[in-house]
Amino acid sequence: MKKIAILQAPFVQEMRKTTANLYRLGWDERNGGNISYLLKEEEVTPFLNVEEVIRKIPMIFDASELAGFYFIVTGSGKYFKNVTDEPSENLGIVRVAQDGKSLDLLWGLDNFATPTSELPSHFMSHIARRKVDPENRIIMHNHASHLLAMSFTHELDERKFTRTLWKMCTECLVVFPEGIGIIPWMVPGTNEIGKATSEKMKENRLVLWPQHGIYGAGRDMDEVFGLIETAEKAAQVYTYVCAQGGVKQTISDENLQRLAKMFGVEPRAGYLDVF
Ligand code: 13P
Ligand code: ZN
Repeated sequence: MKKIAILQAPFVQEMRKTTANLYRLGWDERNGGNISYLLKEEEVTPFLNVEEVIRKIPMIFDASELAGFYFIVTGSGKYFKNVTDEPSENLGIVRVAQDGKSLDLLWGLDNFATPTSELPSHFMSHIARRKVDPENRIIMHNHASHLLAMSFTHELDERKFTRTLWKMCTECLVVFPEGIGIIPWMVPGTNEIGKATSEKMKENRLVLWPQHGIYGAGRDMDEVFGLIETAEKAAQVYTYVCAQGGVKQTISDENLQRLAKMFGVEPRAGYLDVF
């Protein structure tokens, strides 16, 4: 069967548009940030012969729970600003090998590029999220500026951090009623940070990496992008509020409860002081 040019694939176009958007927002300076997007085989086959493996890429952890799964990923050390113009140098389509220890490269990552160094956190988070929501397909990491700044000035207590974000914009509670997970500062790119992130992903779609950035999970690009941009907007408002001299009035817990009822969401248990 004749294949359609890969650059026409909707998922390649989505990656190009999203990385450009993220760069424009200033959350992915230099090579900052990475995305992995789980693809169904039937989405890939119109464009690629999946029997043709360009090369094998070893991995430093066991991803056997994802064996046979296809992903489009950003490359390590690659600049989001360059993805639109040079997709095959900056993106790759890979399939996890049966033993979970390597990847089959099917397209992209030209000139011996490798997938993002954050693959352990991405893949472990995919595994964790899929157990909660089998429809989850995207893990996104970036250096969202105001969330990053807040990790220096706000107490790194998940309940307190979540409550501050919820109270900065009325929409926040509706968008992430489960709150935000926070891990300690850790060395990026390691299995350890992958384990810590995925542990938090069992109960959150947002995980803050203090003094580094944010992780988000979602079913599609809009969900994950919308999730991060809502939390980031709240962090931006928090920055302005602090700069303007601090909070004089805010949304009460009773009103957050009313909001949750109206929108049919369940705030994380114990996060609102209502009885
Ligand atoms: P990569 O270039 O390997 O994706 O790393 C960027 C990054 O943000 C590390 O946390
Ligand atoms: Zn990073």
